[in-house]
Amino acid sequence: MTEFHDAIIRLCPAYKRLSETKLKGWNDSKGYVRPELSLGAHTDYAAHYAKVLLPLLTESHPSGGKFLDLGCAPGGLCTALTTTGGTTQSLWKGVGVTLDPKEGGLAMQAPLNSSLVEIRYADVNHRDPFLAACVKKGEERTFDFVNLGIVLDGTVKMRSEKNIPYCQQLTTQLHVALKALASGGSLLIALKLDFPTLPEVIRTFGVFLDVCSAMRMVPTMYTATHGRKQFYFLAQGLRLDTSIVDRLQDVWEEGRRRYVAFATQAKERNMAGGKRQRLDEERREGTSDEEEVKKRTEADTLVAAVMGGALGMDFGNFCDVIRTALIEGHIL
Ligand SMILES: C[S@@+](CC[C@H](N)C(=O)[O-])C[C@H]1O[C@@H](n2cnc3c(N)ncnc32)[C@H](O)[C@@H]1O
Repeated sequence: MTEFHDAIIRLCPAYKRLSETKLKGWNDSKGYVRPELSLGAHTDYAAHYAKVLLPLLTESHPSGGKFLDLGCAPGGLCTALTTTGGTTQSLWKGVGVTLDPKEGGLAMQAPLNSSLVEIRYADVNHRDPFLAACVKKGEERTFDFVNLGIVLDGTVKMRSEKNIPYCQQLTTQLHVALKALASGGSLLIALKLDFPTLPEVIRTFGVFLDVCSAMRMVPTMYTATHGRKQFYFLAQGLRLDTSIVDRLQDVWEEGRRRYVAFATQAKERNMAGGKRQRLDEERREGTSDEEEVKKRTEADTLVAAVMGGALGMDFGNFCDVIRTALIEGHIL
């Protein structure tokens, strides 16, 4: 469980500083304070995307293209992509998909130009109808940019009985991307840099390493302001195929199994007290030597590969932003 954490500590000084700061907070009885998060208006989202995302997208798509925005309400990203100001015609046109407000989705707020953006309502919890609504006949492999922006619960907790687990929500969105994205297109995935999901996040980076021309970490609107640990992962110049989506699905399903096993063990420990905990620890120690070495080697290799490029710099910057938020008391 700690192999990725240990490898990054060795290779990324900013992550090491962040971990030390976190430890200090846990040892301090006051801990960290996280303010209530209120969702932004579409204008806030639009301004944020215009600042942090559009310059990167312009590098890979200088003449714009066609976008598919999953989780599009209240409409910030659609606004940023289709509003160029003045009389200039926008370079981007596309489709936004969100949950119908009658079923609990956010309402669209942005006054969008309907000749540039088509809004569709569909629920990511229902895979086949969702896929059919996102990518209609004739639209396969025609989108230049796909945003997988629905739901951020990386700890794989089911917050609502109605929602399918996070790994399935992500997988469904990845299948949409597989169907929708043109060769050489760009993909944005909402992720969270948290200790429990560190192995999945680094493995996700690893899967994309060989199949895209550039990978970046982009802050969300809440990264700095509320000390949230969410970020967008941007993969550009992508060649997405079934094997990539299968590998990502395996990564996140394994993460879910590990999380469920960990939660079950924690529950058993609480019920049976210290004796059970010692037994579990002994069992783990006795069986896992070879596997442990394999896991550590995989983690070292992947982390070194990821930290070697532009993504490594983004990763360090992101850790510094989160650390500052911790010190200023924005985060728990
Ligand atoms: C944080 S908002 C995204 C903000 C948006 N990217 C913008 O720029 O304005 C999350 C989105 O996920 C949508 N959503 C939540 N649950 C969903 C579901 N089950 N199926 C489809 N969309 C869902 C919400 O309606 C909302 O549009």
